Amino acid sequence: MRTSAVFILLVFVFLACQIFSITSGDTTSAKPKSFSSYDSQVEPLLAKMTLEEKIGQMTQAEHGGMKDIKDVEYYFLGSVLSGGNSDPETGNSLSSWTEVYERYQSRALKTRLAIPLLYGIDALHGNNNVLGAVIFPHNIGLGCTRNPQLVEKVSKITAEEVRATGINWAFAPCVTVPQDDRWGRTYEGFGETPELARTLGEAAVRGLQGDDLMNPLSVLACAKHFAGDGGTIFGTGVSKGPNTSEHWPLDRGDVRLSEKELRELHLQGYVSAIKAGVGSIMPSYSSWNGVKCSGSKRLMTEILKGEMGFEGFLISDYNALDELPGDSKSQIAQSINAGMDMVMVPEKYREFYSNLKSLVNEGKVPMTRIDDAVKRILRVKFAMGLMDKKRSLMADRNLQKNFGSAEHRAVARESVRQSLVVLKNDKKLLPLSKKPARIHMGGKSADDLGNQCGGWTISWQGQSGKDITPGGTTILQAVQNAVSKGTKVTFSKDGSGANGADVGIVVVGETPYAEMFGDSTDLSLSKEDLAAITNMKKAGIPVLVILLSGRPMIINEALEQCDAFIAAWLPGTEGQGVADVIFGDFKPTGKLSFSWPRSMSQIPVNISDKSYNPLFKYGYGLTW
Ligand code: BGC
Ligand code: BGC
Repeated sequence: MRTSAVFILLVFVFLACQIFSITSGDTTSAKPKSFSSYDSQVEPLLAKMTLEEKIGQMTQAEHGGMKDIKDVEYYFLGSVLSGGNSDPETGNSLSSWTEVYERYQSRALKTRLAIPLLYGIDALHGNNNVLGAVIFPHNIGLGCTRNPQLVEKVSKITAEEVRATGINWAFAPCVTVPQDDRWGRTYEGFGETPELARTLGEAAVRGLQGDDLMNPLSVLACAKHFAGDGGTIFGTGVSKGPNTSEHWPLDRGDVRLSEKELRELHLQGYVSAIKAGVGSIMPSYSSWNGVKCSGSKRLMTEILKGEMGFEGFLISDYNALDELPGDSKSQIAQSINAGMDMVMVPEKYREFYSNLKSLVNEGKVPMTRIDDAVKRILRVKFAMGLMDKKRSLMADRNLQKNFGSAEHRAVARESVRQSLVVLKNDKKLLPLSKKPARIHMGGKSADDLGNQCGGWTISWQGQSGKDITPGGTTILQAVQNAVSKGTKVTFSKDGSGANGADVGIVVVGETPYAEMFGDSTDLSLSKEDLAAITNMKKAGIPVLVILLSGRPMIINEALEQCDAFIAAWLPGTEGQGVADVIFGDFKPTGKLSFSWPRSMSQIPVNISDKSYNPLFKYGYGLTW
């Protein structure tokens, strides 16, 4: 009697826990199914495939580089991508992107084995290539939130907005650990410490892939760039000379660290991404002690697949094999033999296909390596449910209703609020009153959505402009929306005409850039930006400066002049999140994800330095 009562009680408790874990959306405890558990389905298919079909699975061509759509069938392509500027012919609308995806997928389904395509895209902060998508803060800002639950939500919405076009693969998250703020990809990292890459990278993978890749709302994630992309030494990057437009002192450079140091600093994000079930990883353009990562057997096969147990597949970066030594055939042989599984060959996919075929026939790439690569790719395709013949592979148009919705924007707004870092707040200027007679706004970025979003937005490098994408809110508009009816908000780009206002708000900082072109040896504020602050200050009013940037900048002069200062990073389309904090609806909670340098000569400055004396320490952030 007593034992059965205990038993019933236990059953009840068990069921209650199950129900609770479902309703609470608790995904962090779910352990993803291993990729090798699909091998019993993969092997019979692999056994049917010709060498040509196998090589096709290993080939990723680009939409923009496609010679002829029939090539999808002729070369049995396993994947297509759209890089930063590889847009649909008819523009960047949701329907154009959907049409492009469906065009390629329908072709793949016509091949003998009808193996569906993986279509890859750089959805780095929302589905950022598509007009009207919600654009989230870049990772540097998310790092300041220190909030994995929020990052998971952000990534989940990103996945949903990608799936609205049918596309099933995002080249994200970037789990780089940038050490040198002069690097133009600093903002793609969550922060300068391995902790942030580990915790937030894991959350991003869970958000993108969901608890099960089968879920039609999830996308395949891709942790990148393996390994050490953020640790290159200044002066080792790609350069055609200091006075040329191709001078990138850090991008694609060399990382000079012992294996122990590399592991501790740069591999942590991959440990947790694998734990979260990431299905693909992108080796880096950069080198480790002089050896390109895309050709390194030590990194790709021994460490990542062997020791770390990665069972998904590796996708090379854009034309990355071109940077290996030797002619194209030896580049391919080196990379595939070192462990690369799929190769991103945007334009030269025909050459890649025939070169790899002859390398196999000549015995320079063993068939066992080809089979291993294809097995890994197919595992992931099975895990995603792509091989389920009953499932439609066309875009789910129901998802389009929620694309860029108010509900999605609310999460972006929340992440903007939590990413802001208050660096100065003299005489408690903040929070501002919503009811002064007049607020004067200034600065080139006060009314510029492009500057708010940064690189990788609608185009590869991003661009300035108020109207780069519909549906967003600039900081000027956000202030106008937030203040009371009786408050007048005036604006001049150069900050002039502030006389008589109660308070001034100046929004300044960087203009958009991305990889390569973002490397910079001068991170000081421009003359134009400083003049806007000075003009505002001349009116004798208290001034708040809001900095929009992809990294810490040299701000000493601006800091001295202003009364309050906020680092807002690259917040994306939801400028209202900035107003939420400055007018006191929410307290600031953001903490620096990077150490803030005093001067250019102090860079690189990191919390791990032996003598550490930055302007603001990693983790700094005021509140009230
Ligand atoms: C970048 C990657 C990106 C790829 C595809 C490369 O140049 O390094 O981060 O995913 O292009 O656009
Ligand atoms: C980028 C692509 C971009 C291309 C333009 C690549 O390095 O990753 O996204 O479209 O360069 O040439």
